[in-house]
Amino acid sequence: MARVFSGIQPSGELHIGNWLGAIRNWVALQDQYECLYCIVDQHAVTGQYDPASLALRTREMAIGLLAAGVDPNGSLLFVQSHVPAHATLAWLLTTIAPLGELERMTQYKDKSQRFESVPAGLLCYPVLMAADILLYRAEKVPVGDDQTQHLELTRELARRWNRHFAGGDAFFPEPEPILSPARRIIGLDGQAKMSKSLGNTIAVTETPEQIWDKLRPAMTDPARKTRKDPGTPEICNIYALHRHFSPEATVTEVAVKCRTAGWGCIDCKRVLADNMIQALAPLRQRSLDLAMRPAEVTTILADGAATARRLASETMAEVTTRMGFLPEAS
Ligand code: AMP
Ligand code: TRP
Repeated sequence: MARVFSGIQPSGELHIGNWLGAIRNWVALQDQYECLYCIVDQHAVTGQYDPASLALRTREMAIGLLAAGVDPNGSLLFVQSHVPAHATLAWLLTTIAPLGELERMTQYKDKSQRFESVPAGLLCYPVLMAADILLYRAEKVPVGDDQTQHLELTRELARRWNRHFAGGDAFFPEPEPILSPARRIIGLDGQAKMSKSLGNTIAVTETPEQIWDKLRPAMTDPARKTRKDPGTPEICNIYALHRHFSPEATVTEVAVKCRTAGWGCIDCKRVLADNMIQALAPLRQRSLDLAMRPAEVTTILADGAATARRLASETMAEVTTRMGFLPEAS
């Protein structure tokens, strides 16, 4: 079975954007691949962040992933900082990473604008990501299209390392992306990508009341000013969400009722809320169950890290030998 690796930052909240856009796919891949899923807390410290909530956000993300169906019996779920070899390999890879290419990464160019003094960790972020993947010699990496440039760099670093230290052998495979089938999920503002930092999300664990409180004021077709104006479903984010949560027949009905002003936006949202609440109910239940059994989550993460450390040490033994380091005992 080919090996899959992917990572998610501990934003604390699994929302319907990252669930539909990524995690549902992670869950599906477990049937076909050996999957390693990592909560990348060391990536999460490359900008300003809140140390007081990092541990909690990490646990909450673990609970979200387990509730969504990441299965610790078949896959590995672990926290990046629990496996120190990620940072060790990242350091070794910085020594062959072309500075110019790091500076050309779109995400770096974007995020570095927000700093007066840019931390070097932000520049090296994609090298740590490459280390995450190469440490397990993973062949497939499910990612959103915002990460394909980082994956291309990972392939480049694999090629370079192989050329320098493995005589051109493919010690590190060049990992291929598995692009997520779902497109960008737009947030409740109807404008930007759904994202915790923008406050336009619905978490997969929210109560039916919370879901309704968020959907009720959500942005629809801005041209539809009154109940009697017909709307254009294609430009309405509520319609887009229907396509993810409602049955085919409902989606068709929504489009007709919107175009003919048969339903007002609030009617349309009620139907969406019902379907969304139903779709998320099992995730919410599982996450409530897990939250009541914190020791079980701790054990899952500890077991995952122990196995990951073992796999990582096999790779690192080869890497340090081929790079010529003196073994501790020889
Ligand atoms: P994040 O939570 O932003 O770290 O993203 C984790 C994963 O979910 C990445 O692969 C993203 O591409 C994906 N993702 C996050 N937000 C969205 C969204 N609004 N729509 C689609 N995919 C998303
Ligand atoms: N950079 C990725 C993101 O922001 C997260 C990530 C870190 C990752 N390491 C990874 C994804 C390795 C895939 C493989 O979404």
